[in-house]
Amino acid sequence: MHVLITAGPTHEPLDPVRFLGNRSSGKMGYALAAAALARGDTVTLISGPVCLTPPPGLSKFVRVTTSDEMFEAVHAHLEHIDLAILCAAVADFKPAQFAPQKIKKSGRATLTLELVSTRDILASLAPLKKNFRVIGFAAETNDVSAHAREKLSRKGCDAIVLNDVSRMDAGFASDNNEVTVLFREGDEVSFTNAPKTQIATQLLALLVARYKM
Ligand code: CTP
Repeated sequence: MHVLITAGPTHEPLDPVRFLGNRSSGKMGYALAAAALARGDTVTLISGPVCLTPPPGLSKFVRVTTSDEMFEAVHAHLEHIDLAILCAAVADFKPAQFAPQKIKKSGRATLTLELVSTRDILASLAPLKKNFRVIGFAAETNDVSAHAREKLSRKGCDAIVLNDVSRMDAGFASDNNEVTVLFREGDEVSFTNAPKTQIATQLLALLVARYKM
């Protein structure tokens, strides 16, 4: 099986020294890549800026910084894949303009930034005439199940992996995760709180069995 995985945050530059980012550590995506390699899969890992060492044995490793770079890298690596797992915490907005020189604070009491939407990588895969499955992640803090179901349907993916990021013992930056996989057919599978390495192995086994890959 050939798996494409995205991991980590994106950084959207504001000026030469600042960016808009988020708290994603990349641990879940890297754990998925390692678990797929351990199964003998061919793995393409597309990673935002993280402090992790890529697992040995990757077929391709592409390091990106911005949501635009991640979009292009994903679309450039879809050939021959069987499964795309988009785990990255991609910025939803980016600065409307990049200031080529450092924004100075002198004389300002406030600073208003104009942001524009980024392209949604996950949603962009649904309209493709594709022969691979697409799995998204949903980071939610409230009404988690309803928001994740809505996201699954809006983004047209096969399944979405829900994690509740309001919790400190699981999710963002943690070594542990507790997830529920919501399938487009309506059923759900939950995994109890466990190290991300274990969740990754269980999640891949579930998807392989489900889609007979
Ligand atoms: N995603 C993406 N491209 C974006 C934003 C998100 O591919 N520009 C993907 C993520 O990789 C993840 C899924 O969409 O698989 C869900 O991301 P999330 O941030 O939870 O959802 P949003 O669409 O941003 O919705 P909201 O912020 O309103 O919850």
